[in-house]
Amino acid sequence: MKIGIAADHGGYTLKISIVSFLKSLHYEVIDFGAHELDDTDDYPDFVIPMVKAIASNEIDRGIAVCGSGVGACIVANKITGVRAALINDHFSAHQGVEDDDMNVICLGGRITGLMVAQEFVQSFLEARFTGAERHLRRLQKMQQLEK
Ligand code: RB5
Repeated sequence: MKIGIAADHGGYTLKISIVSFLKSLHYEVIDFGAHELDDTDDYPDFVIPMVKAIASNEIDRGIAVCGSGVGACIVANKITGVRAALINDHFSAHQGVEDDDMNVICLGGRITGLMVAQEFVQSFLEARFTGAERHLRRLQKMQQLEK
């Protein structure tokens, strides 16, 4: 599984920790930046290229981090085929994939601690969409909006 990750200054420190964590689990990681801490940078500049890579199947799943996770989540969902959610609890980290086929997890670098974030990310990456009929039906209703 190829994983993309992106963060602004608010998520920069958490991103560094998640990248090392993912590498320790032998995931292939593409880091879309920020590549340095710059308090004036803007999350869309990093999150948009990352979610475009989801839409074009260059990567399988994405992780978007900003200060709260809110802005990253809003912009991620602007791209067709992206199903991003701001995750602050363990259950939603996997259930969002199992039921809703979530393909981007958004985290708040100023909200979620490093170890908790690692657990959310691992749970997200290990979860699989069930493909149950009711979930497919709901997804299709969402996909109609993207046409
Ligand atoms: C940047 O200071 C901050 O606004 C951003 O990281 C994020 O929290 C937006 O949702």
